[in-house]
Amino acid sequence: MNTLDIIAKKRDGGELTAAELEFLVRGYTAGEIPDYQLAAFLMAVYIRGMTRAETALFTLAMAHSGDQLDLGAIPGRKVDKHSTGGVGDKTTLVVAPLVAAAGVPVAKMSGRGLGHSGGTVDKLEAIPGFRAELTEMEFMATVQKTGLAISGQTGNLAPADKELYALRDVTATVASIPLIASSIMSKKIAAGADAIVLDVKCGSGAFMADLDSARVLARTMVDIGRRVGRQVRAVISNMDQPLGAAVGNALEVKEAILTLQNQGPQDLTSLALSLGAHMLVLAGRVNSTSQGEQVLAELLASGAAWEKFRQLVIDQGGDPDAIDCPDLLPQAQFVLPVHAPSNGYVAGLPADKIGRASVALGAGRQKKGDAIDLSVGVILRRKIGDPIKKEEVLAEIHTNDKQRGQKIAREVRSAYTISPEPVKPPELIYELID
Ligand code: URA
Repeated sequence: MNTLDIIAKKRDGGELTAAELEFLVRGYTAGEIPDYQLAAFLMAVYIRGMTRAETALFTLAMAHSGDQLDLGAIPGRKVDKHSTGGVGDKTTLVVAPLVAAAGVPVAKMSGRGLGHSGGTVDKLEAIPGFRAELTEMEFMATVQKTGLAISGQTGNLAPADKELYALRDVTATVASIPLIASSIMSKKIAAGADAIVLDVKCGSGAFMADLDSARVLARTMVDIGRRVGRQVRAVISNMDQPLGAAVGNALEVKEAILTLQNQGPQDLTSLALSLGAHMLVLAGRVNSTSQGEQVLAELLASGAAWEKFRQLVIDQGGDPDAIDCPDLLPQAQFVLPVHAPSNGYVAGLPADKIGRASVALGAGRQKKGDAIDLSVGVILRRKIGDPIKKEEVLAEIHTNDKQRGQKIAREVRSAYTISPEPVKPPELIYELID
């Protein structure tokens, strides 16, 4: 077998075999196949695509490229959750303790921010002392003790994806459905869960801008699960505007705390209940999502989910005083209001623009390895459908640099579209792919 023949086969639209895909993935991870050949292969996939069978085989080859977590020591069906990435998406901080409070163990591996979308690991690090990078042993021990752990990827899980993702990033080959689906699913498969609930974001702030492509991505990932023996469900949810009101690390932790205390924004609460209910169904804890939502709503109301989150923070070294009294979380020096230019109704609030504003304030990275400012971000006081009067506050900019904050306040103001006519708030959940 040789690399050149495999690249040429894909270039000409052929379907690669398991042996050919494993040869490429193994050779590249071992440093035997150079970047320029893999780059040519990725571009051929980008243009020619992959069949469903090929995508599943490619996913497995990447999942097998490093360690695979064995969650067998944890009793019961283990269910994971993954979001394809959005703005203000702090759902994991709510769903993970909620599902764990219902008695279903949650061993959650999360990532850092990517582009204009945030990452759970960065958010959790806003809690003083919180260790979001656990060793595999610490991760397993925490799940066994509390039924819940959230960590950055432990050990050497799917190293091929790490290498390939970095190469895709610099070869204009990120936006390919088989490459995105195999990248996400290889990590989820290596992380060992029996079942996975995917939150496929759709809209201006998501990888998939329209419903048709979100559907194809969701179906591709559900199909990979079916072919490799993992049960997968995908919820397609709206990312035309940010989720909740807070965008930025400590600000999002505060909003997650409020939500766990049953006082959070309605969109975040209902998405968390819905995703959590699907997790309970896949775990065999309830028979239907409506029953699941009822169980979870009671756990929010009783304080059990909040207590589980508190325990998670303590177990992973975080300071419980900082979540009991969120004013102790990192706070920006200046809060600048963004005023409405006219009377009317909010008609548009593009998630990508708000995500980029938050990154420009310092909440995300411009390039790999940049330090981030955990205290800064944007609070949206009005969202799509809300009425607004001229000069009322649309949003707040939390910043440590007044001049930069003022520039970003102008950008946030121009990101809002105000209509004189009433506007219907958008649907939050579009559909379920099962
Ligand atoms: N998230 C991933 O992990 N991989 C992709 O390719 C896109 C989003």
